[in-house]
Amino acid sequence: MIVVPGPSSMKLGEQIAALLGMKRVAVDYKNFPDGESYQRLTESVDGDDVVLVHTTYPNQDKRLIELLIMIDGLKSLGASKVRVVVPYMAYARQDTRFREGEVVSIGSLFKMIQSAGADEFYTVDLHKEASLSTFGIKARNLYATDVIAEYLIHSGLEEPYILSPDKGAIMIAKRIGERMGAEYGNFEKTRDRITGAITVRGEKVDARGRNVAIVDDLISTGGTIANAAKILKDGGAKRIVALCSHPLLVAGAYERMRGAGVDEVLGTDTVESEVSKISVAPLIAKGLQ
Ligand code: R5P
Repeated sequence: MIVVPGPSSMKLGEQIAALLGMKRVAVDYKNFPDGESYQRLTESVDGDDVVLVHTTYPNQDKRLIELLIMIDGLKSLGASKVRVVVPYMAYARQDTRFREGEVVSIGSLFKMIQSAGADEFYTVDLHKEASLSTFGIKARNLYATDVIAEYLIHSGLEEPYILSPDKGAIMIAKRIGERMGAEYGNFEKTRDRITGAITVRGEKVDARGRNVAIVDDLISTGGTIANAAKILKDGGAKRIVALCSHPLLVAGAYERMRGAGVDEVLGTDTVESEVSKISVAPLIAKGLQ
């Protein structure tokens, strides 16, 4: 097996190759003046079993096109197998036809990845694991909860309450809580399907005098975390730390969360950002074995 770190996951791809003791083949990458992407394999992949690592943020649409043309390109250059690792899979939140006429984006993308030539697919903390059932190839969701729990255990945050800001991430809170032997629970969140506005309710959780770790699969605008943090602060929580697998952190997200009382924001390196202090390289390396 050889590892090809795609342009969006060069560092992570290199770390995975090093952990697996595998050869790494670099991609020569550039943008044309009009924004189109150019990719060239710097060594032959003819006959090789290739692990392609390429995340899909930021600029999801561009990253997805790069992913698709690289999968097809590897096959046309003779790769015998292409195992596709997408540490953060974009468009996964649109996994259902919530309103009549909506397209189910994640299903469409999985069809495209498969038809481009992927033989296997790996991702981390997919928004809804069940979405993988649309694939006709081996497809695995890896859980970042173990590496996040490990980080929390050594972070010095005393006896934290592990909180999911909504029902959707309760499994994440449960897995981290059980791994740490910590209490866990969830708030309730509703989202207006037209305006996108969210409402968070937290009357069932008593965080008075407690340190709280809010955990979620992803942080985009930070609105979900900020809403939860305000409730926790009003309820007398002590230190509040927000952790996620995918720190997308669109403009203003960090400030929004800090302004709502979050003391620290942490994420993994499925998306490289200033808060990506927890690496999923060991998790992915293990998942590929
Ligand atoms: C939604 O169901 C997700 O799990 C996240 O809670 C949400 O997408 C976070 O988005 P934002 O940071 O914009 O509130």
